[in-house]
Amino acid sequence: MVGKSAQWGTTAAHMRANKYALLICLLWTAAAYGQGLAGRWAATGRTLDNGEQEKSILELKQDGNALTGTVTTLGGSSDVKGTATGTHFELYGAWNAKRPFLVGDLVNGEIHAAQGRRQWVARPATPADDVPKIAYIEPPALHPVPENGLARTPPMGWNSWNLFAGKVDDPTVRTIADAMVSSGMRDAGYIYVNIDDTWEGVRDASGNLQTNHKFPDMKALADYVHSKGLKLGIYSGPGPRTCANYPASYGHEEQDAKTFAGWGIDYLKYDWCSAAMTYKDDKLQPVYQKMGEALETTGRPMVYSLCEYGRGKVETWGPQVGGNLWRTTDDIRDQWSSMIGNIEEQVPTAPYAGPGHWNDPDMLEIGNGHMTDDEYRTHMSLWALTAAPLLAGNDIRSMTDATKAILMNKEVIAVDQDALGKQASPVKNGDLETWVKPLADGGVAVGIVNLGDSAATAAVRASDLHLAGKVKSARDLWAHQDVKFTGDGYSATVRSHGVLMLRVSTE
Ligand code: GLA
Repeated sequence: MVGKSAQWGTTAAHMRANKYALLICLLWTAAAYGQGLAGRWAATGRTLDNGEQEKSILELKQDGNALTGTVTTLGGSSDVKGTATGTHFELYGAWNAKRPFLVGDLVNGEIHAAQGRRQWVARPATPADDVPKIAYIEPPALHPVPENGLARTPPMGWNSWNLFAGKVDDPTVRTIADAMVSSGMRDAGYIYVNIDDTWEGVRDASGNLQTNHKFPDMKALADYVHSKGLKLGIYSGPGPRTCANYPASYGHEEQDAKTFAGWGIDYLKYDWCSAAMTYKDDKLQPVYQKMGEALETTGRPMVYSLCEYGRGKVETWGPQVGGNLWRTTDDIRDQWSSMIGNIEEQVPTAPYAGPGHWNDPDMLEIGNGHMTDDEYRTHMSLWALTAAPLLAGNDIRSMTDATKAILMNKEVIAVDQDALGKQASPVKNGDLETWVKPLADGGVAVGIVNLGDSAATAAVRASDLHLAGKVKSARDLWAHQDVKFTGDGYSATVRSHGVLMLRVSTE
Protein backbone atom coordinates (compact mmCIF):
# COMPACT_ATOMS: atom_id res chain seq x y z
CA MET A 1 0.00 0.00 0.00
CA VAL A 2 2.84 2.41 0.89
CA GLY A 3 4.59 1.50 -2.33
CA LYS A 4 1.44 2.22 -4.33
CA SER A 5 1.00 5.68 -2.73
CA ALA A 6 4.53 6.64 -3.52
CA GLN A 7 4.10 5.57 -7.07
CA TRP A 8 0.99 7.79 -7.50
CA GLY A 9 2.93 10.66 -5.88
CA THR A 10 5.77 10.57 -8.37
CA THR A 11 3.39 10.70 -11.35
CA ALA A 12 1.16 13.50 -9.94
CA ALA A 13 2.94 16.37 -11.75
CA HIS A 14 2.43 14.66 -15.05
CA MET A 15 -1.20 14.08 -14.28
CA ARG A 16 -1.98 17.71 -13.50
CA ALA A 17 -2.14 18.25 -17.25
CA ASN A 18 -5.16 16.04 -17.31
CA LYS A 19 -7.49 16.73 -14.42
CA TYR A 20 -9.85 13.97 -15.50
CA ALA A 21 -7.14 11.38 -15.42
CA LEU A 22 -6.15 12.56 -11.95
CA LEU A 23 -9.73 12.35 -10.69
CA ILE A 24 -10.10 8.85 -12.06
CA CYS A 25 -6.86 7.75 -10.48
CA LEU A 26 -7.91 9.12 -7.11
CA LEU A 27 -11.34 7.56 -7.26
CA TRP A 28 -9.95 4.29 -8.42
CA THR A 29 -7.37 4.32 -5.64
CA ALA A 30 -9.99 5.19 -3.03
CA ALA A 31 -12.31 2.48 -4.23
CA ALA A 32 -9.70 -0.15 -4.63
CA TYR A 33 -7.81 0.49 -1.42
CA GLY A 34 -10.22 0.52 1.38
CA GLN A 35 -12.27 3.74 1.30
CA GLY A 36 -15.35 1.72 0.79
CA LEU A 37 -18.01 2.51 -1.72
CA ALA A 38 -17.36 6.23 -2.20
CA GLY A 39 -16.53 7.11 -5.78
CA ARG A 40 -17.82 7.31 -9.29
CA TRP A 41 -18.63 3.90 -10.63
CA ALA A 42 -19.54 2.80 -14.15
CA ALA A 43 -21.57 -0.30 -14.87
CA THR A 44 -22.32 -1.79 -18.22
CA GLY A 45 -25.28 -4.11 -18.32
CA ARG A 46 -26.77 -6.28 -21.04
CA THR A 47 -26.68 -5.66 -24.73
CA LEU A 48 -30.34 -5.12 -25.57
CA ASP A 49 -32.18 -6.71 -28.48
CA ASN A 50 -31.89 -3.38 -30.32
CA GLY A 51 -28.10 -3.45 -30.09
CA GLU A 52 -27.83 -0.79 -27.40
CA GLN A 53 -25.67 -1.35 -24.35
CA GLU A 54 -27.16 -0.73 -20.92
CA LYS A 55 -24.99 1.55 -18.81
CA SER A 56 -25.15 3.40 -15.53
CA ILE A 57 -23.01 5.76 -13.50
CA LEU A 58 -23.23 5.57 -9.74
CA GLU A 59 -21.76 8.44 -7.75
CA LEU A 60 -21.51 7.68 -4.06
CA LYS A 61 -20.41 9.36 -0.87
CA GLN A 62 -19.91 7.34 2.26
CA ASP A 63 -20.13 8.62 5.82
CA GLY A 64 -19.68 5.68 8.18
CA ASN A 65 -22.43 3.28 7.21
CA ALA A 66 -24.48 5.88 5.38
CA LEU A 67 -24.37 6.10 1.60
CA THR A 68 -25.73 9.00 -0.46
CA GLY A 69 -25.36 9.88 -4.11
CA THR A 70 -26.90 9.70 -7.53
CA VAL A 71 -27.47 7.10 -10.16
CA THR A 72 -27.59 8.05 -13.82
CA THR A 73 -28.89 5.53 -16.29
CA LEU A 74 -30.25 5.64 -19.83
CA GLY A 75 -33.58 6.35 -18.12
CA GLY A 76 -32.50 9.43 -16.16
CA SER A 77 -30.75 10.54 -13.03
CA SER A 78 -31.91 10.30 -9.45
CA ASP A 79 -30.76 10.59 -5.87
CA VAL A 80 -30.00 7.38 -4.04
CA LYS A 81 -29.28 6.60 -0.44
CA GLY A 82 -28.63 3.50 1.57
CA THR A 83 -26.36 1.72 3.98
CA ALA A 84 -23.09 -0.17 3.87
CA THR A 85 -22.29 -2.98 6.25
CA GLY A 86 -18.66 -3.89 5.70
CA THR A 87 -18.38 -4.55 2.01
CA HIS A 88 -22.13 -5.20 1.63
CA PHE A 89 -24.54 -2.41 0.70
CA GLU A 90 -28.17 -1.65 -0.11
CA LEU A 91 -29.22 1.41 -2.07
CA TYR A 92 -32.69 2.91 -2.43
CA GLY A 93 -33.69 5.23 -5.26
CA ALA A 94 -35.58 8.42 -4.42
CA TRP A 95 -38.33 7.10 -6.69
CA ASN A 96 -39.14 4.08 -4.51
CA ALA A 97 -38.51 3.85 -0.78
CA LYS A 98 -40.16 0.41 -0.51
CA ARG A 99 -37.66 -1.76 -2.34
CA PRO A 100 -33.89 -1.37 -2.70
CA PHE A 101 -32.95 -0.71 -6.29
CA LEU A 102 -29.44 -2.11 -5.91
CA VAL A 103 -28.06 -4.66 -3.47
CA GLY A 104 -24.50 -5.88 -3.65
CA ASP A 105 -20.93 -6.07 -2.44
CA LEU A 106 -17.57 -4.48 -2.98
CA VAL A 107 -15.35 -7.24 -4.34
CA ASN A 108 -11.70 -6.55 -5.20
CA GLY A 109 -12.37 -2.92 -6.08
CA GLU A 110 -15.50 -3.68 -8.13
CA ILE A 111 -19.16 -3.44 -7.24
CA HIS A 112 -21.01 -6.69 -7.83
CA ALA A 113 -24.71 -6.13 -7.36
CA ALA A 114 -28.24 -7.07 -8.36
CA GLN A 115 -30.88 -4.64 -9.61
CA GLY A 116 -33.95 -6.82 -9.36
CA ARG A 117 -33.22 -9.71 -11.69
CA ARG A 118 -30.40 -7.83 -13.41
CA GLN A 119 -26.75 -8.23 -12.43
CA TRP A 120 -24.40 -5.27 -12.20
CA VAL A 121 -20.62 -5.13 -12.26
CA ALA A 122 -19.34 -1.58 -11.72
CA ARG A 123 -15.78 -0.36 -12.00
CA PRO A 124 -14.32 3.09 -11.28
CA ALA A 125 -15.67 5.34 -14.03
CA THR A 126 -13.75 7.16 -16.74
CA PRO A 127 -15.14 10.14 -18.74
CA ALA A 128 -15.73 7.76 -21.63
CA ASP A 129 -18.36 6.03 -19.49
CA ASP A 130 -20.61 9.10 -19.33
CA VAL A 131 -24.34 8.53 -19.79
CA PRO A 132 -26.19 11.40 -21.52
CA LYS A 133 -28.27 13.53 -19.17
CA ILE A 134 -32.01 13.70 -19.81
CA ALA A 135 -33.44 17.23 -20.27
CA TYR A 136 -36.56 17.94 -18.21
CA ILE A 137 -39.81 18.38 -20.15
CA GLU A 138 -42.64 20.09 -18.29
CA PRO A 139 -45.87 18.15 -18.87
CA PRO A 140 -48.95 20.00 -20.19
CA ALA A 141 -51.54 21.75 -18.02
CA LEU A 142 -54.39 19.53 -16.88
CA HIS A 143 -57.60 19.36 -18.85
CA PRO A 144 -59.98 16.41 -19.19
CA VAL A 145 -59.43 14.05 -22.13
CA PRO A 146 -62.79 12.93 -23.59
CA GLU A 147 -63.77 9.29 -23.04
CA ASN A 148 -62.72 7.10 -25.96
CA GLY A 149 -65.79 4.89 -25.60
CA LEU A 150 -63.73 1.67 -25.40
CA ALA A 151 -63.59 -1.10 -22.77
CA ARG A 152 -67.25 -0.95 -21.75
CA THR A 153 -66.48 -4.25 -20.00
CA PRO A 154 -63.04 -5.21 -18.63
CA PRO A 155 -60.57 -5.87 -21.49
CA MET A 156 -59.84 -9.54 -22.23
CA GLY A 157 -56.91 -11.00 -24.08
CA TRP A 158 -53.35 -12.21 -23.66
CA ASN A 159 -50.10 -10.47 -22.77
CA SER A 160 -46.56 -11.72 -23.38
CA TRP A 161 -44.84 -10.57 -20.19
CA ASN A 162 -45.71 -13.05 -17.44
CA LEU A 163 -44.32 -16.06 -19.30
CA PHE A 164 -42.20 -14.86 -22.21
CA ALA A 165 -40.75 -11.60 -20.81
CA GLY A 166 -37.81 -10.68 -23.10
CA LYS A 167 -38.27 -13.78 -25.25
CA VAL A 168 -41.31 -12.51 -27.14
CA ASP A 169 -40.98 -12.17 -30.92
CA ASP A 170 -43.04 -12.10 -34.12
CA PRO A 171 -43.34 -15.90 -34.57
CA THR A 172 -44.42 -16.27 -30.92
CA VAL A 173 -47.14 -13.64 -31.32
CA ARG A 174 -48.39 -15.17 -34.58
CA THR A 175 -48.55 -18.67 -33.16
CA ILE A 176 -50.23 -17.39 -30.00
CA ALA A 177 -52.79 -15.62 -32.21
CA ASP A 178 -53.39 -18.91 -34.06
CA ALA A 179 -53.86 -20.69 -30.74
CA MET A 180 -56.23 -18.01 -29.44
CA VAL A 181 -58.51 -19.05 -32.27
CA SER A 182 -57.98 -22.84 -32.27
CA SER A 183 -58.25 -23.17 -28.47
CA GLY A 184 -61.52 -21.23 -28.31
CA MET A 185 -59.98 -18.37 -26.32
CA ARG A 186 -61.00 -15.76 -28.90
CA ASP A 187 -64.57 -16.99 -28.95
CA ALA A 188 -64.63 -16.95 -25.17
CA GLY A 189 -63.90 -13.19 -25.38
CA TYR A 190 -60.10 -12.98 -25.23
CA ILE A 191 -59.62 -10.53 -28.10
CA TYR A 192 -56.44 -8.54 -27.41
CA VAL A 193 -53.02 -10.04 -28.16
CA ASN A 194 -50.66 -7.71 -26.34
CA ILE A 195 -46.93 -7.44 -26.90
CA ASP A 196 -45.25 -6.23 -23.71
CA ASP A 197 -41.74 -4.85 -23.26
CA THR A 198 -38.66 -5.62 -25.43
CA TRP A 199 -40.09 -5.12 -28.93
CA GLU A 200 -38.46 -1.70 -29.27
CA GLY A 201 -35.64 -0.83 -31.64
CA VAL A 202 -33.96 2.57 -31.78
CA ARG A 203 -35.26 5.86 -33.18
CA ASP A 204 -34.40 6.76 -36.78
CA ALA A 205 -32.97 10.14 -37.81
CA SER A 206 -36.47 11.67 -37.68
CA GLY A 207 -37.11 10.29 -34.21
CA ASN A 208 -39.49 7.54 -35.34
CA LEU A 209 -39.31 4.56 -33.03
CA GLN A 210 -38.53 1.35 -34.87
CA THR A 211 -38.90 -2.26 -33.88
CA ASN A 212 -35.90 -4.48 -33.11
CA HIS A 213 -34.92 -7.63 -35.01
CA LYS A 214 -37.48 -9.76 -33.12
CA PHE A 215 -40.32 -7.85 -34.85
CA PRO A 216 -39.29 -7.32 -38.48
CA ASP A 217 -42.62 -5.80 -39.60
CA MET A 218 -45.11 -4.65 -36.98
CA LYS A 219 -47.72 -3.58 -39.53
CA ALA A 220 -47.65 -7.01 -41.18
CA LEU A 221 -47.98 -8.59 -37.73
CA ALA A 222 -50.97 -6.38 -36.93
CA ASP A 223 -52.55 -7.34 -40.26
CA TYR A 224 -52.04 -11.00 -39.41
CA VAL A 225 -53.52 -10.67 -35.92
CA HIS A 226 -56.47 -8.72 -37.32
CA SER A 227 -57.06 -11.39 -39.98
CA LYS A 228 -57.71 -13.79 -37.10
CA GLY A 229 -60.46 -11.60 -35.66
CA LEU A 230 -58.15 -10.44 -32.88
CA LYS A 231 -56.66 -7.07 -31.89
CA LEU A 232 -53.02 -6.15 -31.30
CA GLY A 233 -51.65 -4.37 -28.24
CA ILE A 234 -48.25 -2.80 -27.65
CA TYR A 235 -46.23 -1.35 -24.77
CA SER A 236 -44.34 1.86 -24.06
CA GLY A 237 -43.91 4.33 -21.22
CA PRO A 238 -43.77 8.05 -20.43
CA GLY A 239 -40.11 7.96 -19.36
CA PRO A 240 -37.06 7.85 -21.59
CA ARG A 241 -36.81 4.08 -21.05
CA THR A 242 -39.13 1.17 -20.40
CA CYS A 243 -38.79 -1.09 -17.37
CA ALA A 244 -36.55 -3.41 -19.39
CA ASN A 245 -34.49 -0.36 -20.44
CA TYR A 246 -35.68 -0.06 -24.05
CA PRO A 247 -36.51 3.33 -25.60
CA ALA A 248 -39.86 4.69 -24.40
CA SER A 249 -41.98 7.67 -25.41
CA TYR A 250 -40.53 10.59 -23.39
CA GLY A 251 -40.61 13.66 -25.64
CA HIS A 252 -42.04 11.60 -28.52
CA GLU A 253 -45.60 11.01 -27.31
CA GLU A 254 -47.47 12.29 -30.37
CA GLN A 255 -44.99 10.76 -32.76
CA ASP A 256 -45.21 7.35 -31.10
CA ALA A 257 -49.00 7.47 -30.89
CA LYS A 258 -49.03 8.11 -34.67
CA THR A 259 -46.57 5.28 -35.25
CA PHE A 260 -48.74 2.89 -33.23
CA ALA A 261 -51.87 4.00 -35.08
CA GLY A 262 -50.08 3.57 -38.41
CA TRP A 263 -49.10 0.03 -37.52
CA GLY A 264 -52.73 -0.77 -36.65
CA ILE A 265 -52.28 -1.05 -32.89
CA ASP A 266 -55.48 -1.34 -30.81
CA TYR A 267 -54.21 -1.15 -27.22
CA LEU A 268 -51.34 0.61 -25.43
CA LYS A 269 -49.94 -0.34 -22.03
CA TYR A 270 -48.01 2.69 -20.79
CA ASP A 271 -45.55 1.89 -18.02
CA TRP A 272 -44.23 4.58 -15.61
CA CYS A 273 -40.84 3.01 -14.78
CA SER A 274 -38.04 5.45 -15.68
CA ALA A 275 -40.47 8.40 -15.64
CA ALA A 276 -40.04 8.16 -11.86
CA MET A 277 -36.48 9.45 -12.26
CA THR A 278 -37.71 12.60 -14.01
CA TYR A 279 -41.08 13.27 -12.40
CA LYS A 280 -42.46 13.20 -8.88
CA ASP A 281 -45.86 11.64 -8.35
CA ASP A 282 -47.59 15.04 -8.55
CA LYS A 283 -46.88 14.91 -12.31
CA LEU A 284 -48.39 11.47 -12.90
CA GLN A 285 -51.68 12.91 -14.07
CA PRO A 286 -50.45 15.43 -16.68
CA VAL A 287 -47.83 12.97 -17.93
CA TYR A 288 -50.46 10.26 -18.50
CA GLN A 289 -52.82 12.85 -19.96
CA LYS A 290 -50.19 13.72 -22.59
CA MET A 291 -50.28 10.24 -24.10
CA GLY A 292 -54.04 9.87 -23.55
CA GLU A 293 -54.55 12.94 -25.68
CA ALA A 294 -51.97 11.87 -28.26
CA LEU A 295 -53.75 8.53 -28.70
CA GLU A 296 -57.11 10.19 -29.21
CA THR A 297 -55.63 12.71 -31.64
CA THR A 298 -54.64 9.85 -33.97
CA GLY A 299 -58.33 9.06 -34.51
CA ARG A 300 -57.63 5.32 -34.12
CA PRO A 301 -59.47 3.66 -31.23
CA MET A 302 -56.80 2.38 -28.83
CA VAL A 303 -57.47 1.08 -25.32
CA TYR A 304 -55.25 3.04 -22.94
CA SER A 305 -53.81 0.99 -20.06
CA LEU A 306 -51.97 2.96 -17.36
CA CYS A 307 -49.28 0.98 -15.62
CA GLU A 308 -47.97 2.86 -12.60
CA TYR A 309 -48.58 0.31 -9.86
CA GLY A 310 -51.34 2.29 -8.11
CA ARG A 311 -49.27 5.41 -7.40
CA GLY A 312 -50.93 8.73 -6.69
CA LYS A 313 -54.47 7.31 -6.27
CA VAL A 314 -54.70 6.67 -10.00
CA GLU A 315 -58.24 5.34 -9.66
CA THR A 316 -59.46 8.85 -8.80
CA TRP A 317 -58.13 10.49 -12.00
CA GLY A 318 -57.51 7.64 -14.49
CA PRO A 319 -60.63 8.35 -16.57
CA GLN A 320 -59.87 12.11 -16.86
CA VAL A 321 -56.57 11.39 -18.63
CA GLY A 322 -58.27 9.04 -21.09
CA GLY A 323 -57.38 5.83 -19.22
CA ASN A 324 -59.45 2.67 -19.67
CA LEU A 325 -57.65 0.68 -16.99
CA TRP A 326 -54.87 1.22 -14.53
CA ARG A 327 -52.69 -1.05 -12.48
CA THR A 328 -53.37 -0.87 -8.75
CA THR A 329 -50.45 -2.99 -7.51
CA ASP A 330 -46.88 -4.12 -8.06
CA ASP A 331 -46.20 -6.93 -10.51
CA ILE A 332 -47.98 -10.22 -9.94
CA ARG A 333 -45.95 -13.44 -9.61
CA ASP A 334 -47.13 -16.99 -10.22
CA GLN A 335 -47.52 -17.57 -6.50
CA TRP A 336 -50.52 -17.75 -4.16
CA SER A 337 -49.33 -15.01 -1.79
CA SER A 338 -48.62 -12.61 -4.65
CA MET A 339 -51.97 -13.24 -6.32
CA ILE A 340 -53.95 -12.86 -3.08
CA GLY A 341 -51.82 -9.87 -2.05
CA ASN A 342 -52.60 -8.06 -5.30
CA ILE A 343 -56.34 -8.59 -5.09
CA GLU A 344 -56.45 -7.48 -1.44
CA GLU A 345 -54.39 -4.41 -2.25
CA GLN A 346 -56.91 -3.12 -4.73
CA VAL A 347 -59.91 -3.40 -2.37
CA PRO A 348 -59.96 0.38 -1.61
CA THR A 349 -60.29 1.14 -5.32
CA ALA A 350 -63.65 -0.67 -5.66
CA PRO A 351 -65.87 2.45 -5.93
CA TYR A 352 -63.94 3.62 -8.99
CA ALA A 353 -64.53 0.64 -11.32
CA GLY A 354 -67.14 0.96 -14.04
CA PRO A 355 -67.79 0.76 -17.77
CA GLY A 356 -64.86 2.28 -19.66
CA HIS A 357 -62.48 2.43 -16.68
CA TRP A 358 -61.22 -0.49 -14.61
CA ASN A 359 -58.89 -1.26 -11.73
CA ASP A 360 -56.18 -3.69 -12.82
CA PRO A 361 -54.60 -6.00 -10.22
CA ASP A 362 -52.27 -7.24 -13.02
CA MET A 363 -52.39 -10.04 -15.53
CA LEU A 364 -53.36 -13.65 -15.02
CA GLU A 365 -50.85 -16.34 -14.08
CA ILE A 366 -53.30 -19.20 -14.72
CA GLY A 367 -51.53 -22.10 -16.41
CA ASN A 368 -47.99 -20.95 -15.66
CA GLY A 369 -47.41 -23.88 -13.35
CA HIS A 370 -46.59 -22.58 -9.87
CA MET A 371 -50.04 -22.63 -8.32
CA THR A 372 -52.46 -25.52 -7.98
CA ASP A 373 -55.59 -25.73 -10.10
CA ASP A 374 -57.64 -24.87 -6.98
CA GLU A 375 -55.52 -21.74 -6.60
CA TYR A 376 -55.92 -20.87 -10.28
CA ARG A 377 -59.71 -21.28 -9.99
CA THR A 378 -59.60 -18.86 -7.07
CA HIS A 379 -57.43 -16.48 -9.14
CA MET A 380 -59.97 -16.55 -12.00
CA SER A 381 -62.95 -16.19 -9.63
CA LEU A 382 -61.45 -13.22 -7.80
CA TRP A 383 -60.53 -11.41 -11.00
CA ALA A 384 -64.09 -11.96 -12.29
CA LEU A 385 -65.72 -10.85 -9.02
CA THR A 386 -63.64 -7.68 -8.99
CA ALA A 387 -64.32 -6.86 -12.67
CA ALA A 388 -60.59 -7.04 -13.38
CA PRO A 389 -59.19 -7.15 -16.90
CA LEU A 390 -58.65 -10.79 -17.94
CA LEU A 391 -55.30 -10.90 -19.70
CA ALA A 392 -54.01 -14.45 -19.83
CA GLY A 393 -50.27 -14.69 -19.30
CA ASN A 394 -49.60 -18.32 -20.19
CA ASP A 395 -48.62 -20.24 -23.31
CA ILE A 396 -51.93 -20.53 -25.13
CA ARG A 397 -50.35 -23.01 -27.58
CA SER A 398 -49.91 -25.72 -24.98
CA MET A 399 -52.63 -25.43 -22.35
CA THR A 400 -53.70 -28.40 -20.24
CA ASP A 401 -57.38 -29.25 -20.19
CA ALA A 402 -57.56 -27.93 -16.63
CA THR A 403 -56.09 -24.57 -17.68
CA LYS A 404 -58.52 -24.36 -20.61
CA ALA A 405 -61.45 -25.14 -18.34
CA ILE A 406 -60.39 -22.38 -15.95
CA LEU A 407 -59.64 -19.65 -18.48
CA MET A 408 -62.63 -20.48 -20.64
CA ASN A 409 -65.24 -20.98 -17.95
CA LYS A 410 -67.92 -18.97 -19.72
CA GLU A 411 -70.10 -18.62 -16.64
CA VAL A 412 -67.24 -17.06 -14.66
CA ILE A 413 -66.27 -14.86 -17.63
CA ALA A 414 -69.88 -13.63 -17.75
CA VAL A 415 -69.51 -12.42 -14.16
CA ASP A 416 -66.35 -10.49 -15.07
CA GLN A 417 -68.00 -9.04 -18.17
CA ASP A 418 -71.28 -8.14 -16.50
CA ALA A 419 -72.63 -4.87 -17.93
CA LEU A 420 -73.14 -3.24 -14.51
CA GLY A 421 -69.35 -3.23 -14.02
CA LYS A 422 -69.30 -3.47 -10.21
CA GLN A 423 -66.18 -4.51 -8.30
CA ALA A 424 -66.85 -6.84 -5.34
CA SER A 425 -65.32 -6.17 -1.93
CA PRO A 426 -64.50 -8.85 0.64
CA VAL A 427 -65.93 -9.62 4.08
CA LYS A 428 -63.64 -11.80 6.17
CA ASN A 429 -64.72 -14.46 8.61
CA GLY A 430 -61.75 -16.43 9.93
CA ASP A 431 -60.08 -18.10 6.98
CA LEU A 432 -63.08 -17.56 4.74
CA GLU A 433 -63.47 -14.46 2.66
CA THR A 434 -66.77 -13.66 0.93
CA TRP A 435 -66.93 -11.46 -2.15
CA VAL A 436 -70.36 -10.37 -3.47
CA LYS A 437 -70.74 -8.72 -6.87
CA PRO A 438 -74.10 -7.16 -7.87
CA LEU A 439 -75.06 -8.04 -11.45
CA ALA A 440 -77.02 -6.19 -14.13
CA ASP A 441 -79.96 -8.65 -13.94
CA GLY A 442 -80.57 -7.85 -10.25
CA GLY A 443 -78.86 -11.02 -9.04
CA VAL A 444 -75.38 -11.40 -7.59
CA ALA A 445 -72.25 -13.45 -8.01
CA VAL A 446 -70.74 -14.62 -4.76
CA GLY A 447 -67.37 -16.21 -4.13
CA ILE A 448 -66.18 -17.67 -0.84
CA VAL A 449 -62.41 -18.19 -0.81
CA ASN A 450 -60.74 -20.48 1.70
CA LEU A 451 -57.49 -18.74 2.69
CA GLY A 452 -56.70 -21.41 5.28
CA ASP A 453 -54.55 -24.53 5.14
CA SER A 454 -57.36 -27.06 5.53
CA ALA A 455 -60.79 -27.66 4.07
CA ALA A 456 -63.66 -25.63 5.53
CA THR A 457 -67.42 -25.31 5.20
CA ALA A 458 -68.39 -22.21 3.29
CA ALA A 459 -71.90 -20.93 3.89
CA VAL A 460 -73.54 -18.46 1.52
CA ARG A 461 -76.27 -16.77 3.57
CA ALA A 462 -79.11 -15.12 1.68
CA SER A 463 -79.06 -12.27 4.21
CA ASP A 464 -75.46 -11.38 3.22
CA LEU A 465 -76.34 -10.92 -0.43
CA HIS A 466 -78.50 -7.77 -0.12
CA LEU A 467 -80.87 -9.01 -2.79
CA ALA A 468 -83.76 -6.86 -4.00
CA GLY A 469 -86.04 -9.84 -4.70
CA LYS A 470 -86.56 -13.46 -3.64
CA VAL A 471 -84.05 -16.06 -4.77
CA LYS A 472 -85.17 -17.78 -7.96
CA SER A 473 -82.17 -20.01 -8.59
CA ALA A 474 -78.53 -20.53 -7.68
CA ARG A 475 -75.79 -22.09 -9.72
CA ASP A 476 -72.32 -23.34 -8.81
CA LEU A 477 -70.15 -21.79 -11.53
CA TRP A 478 -67.26 -24.25 -11.18
CA ALA A 479 -69.38 -27.41 -10.87
CA HIS A 480 -71.59 -26.06 -13.67
CA GLN A 481 -74.74 -27.17 -11.91
CA ASP A 482 -77.71 -25.62 -10.20
CA VAL A 483 -77.71 -25.95 -6.42
CA LYS A 484 -80.53 -25.96 -3.95
CA PHE A 485 -80.68 -22.59 -2.24
CA THR A 486 -82.92 -22.83 0.82
CA GLY A 487 -84.31 -19.83 2.71
CA ASP A 488 -81.04 -19.61 4.68
CA GLY A 489 -78.69 -20.09 1.79
CA TYR A 490 -76.31 -22.77 0.68
CA SER A 491 -73.19 -24.38 2.08
CA ALA A 492 -70.45 -26.58 0.71
CA THR A 493 -66.99 -27.81 1.61
CA VAL A 494 -64.17 -25.74 0.10
CA ARG A 495 -60.63 -27.11 -0.08
CA SER A 496 -57.65 -25.10 1.15
CA HIS A 497 -57.06 -22.17 -1.25
CA GLY A 498 -60.17 -23.18 -3.19
CA VAL A 499 -63.33 -21.25 -3.90
CA LEU A 500 -67.09 -21.73 -3.95
CA MET A 501 -68.54 -19.48 -6.63
CA LEU A 502 -72.28 -19.10 -7.12
CA ARG A 503 -74.52 -17.01 -9.30
CA VAL A 504 -77.72 -16.24 -7.46
CA SER A 505 -80.68 -14.98 -9.50
CA THR A 506 -83.78 -13.28 -8.16
CA GLU A 507 -87.43 -13.46 -9.21
C1 GLA B 1 -43.17 -3.58 -15.34
C2 GLA B 1 -44.64 -3.91 -15.48
C3 GLA B 1 -44.78 -5.33 -15.99
C4 GLA B 1 -44.06 -5.47 -17.31
C5 GLA B 1 -42.62 -5.07 -17.16
C6 GLA B 1 -41.90 -5.00 -18.50
O1 GLA B 1 -42.56 -4.34 -14.35
O2 GLA B 1 -45.31 -3.75 -14.27
O3 GLA B 1 -46.15 -5.67 -16.13
O4 GLA B 1 -44.71 -4.67 -18.28
O5 GLA B 1 -42.50 -3.79 -16.58
O6 GLA B 1 -40.59 -4.57 -18.39
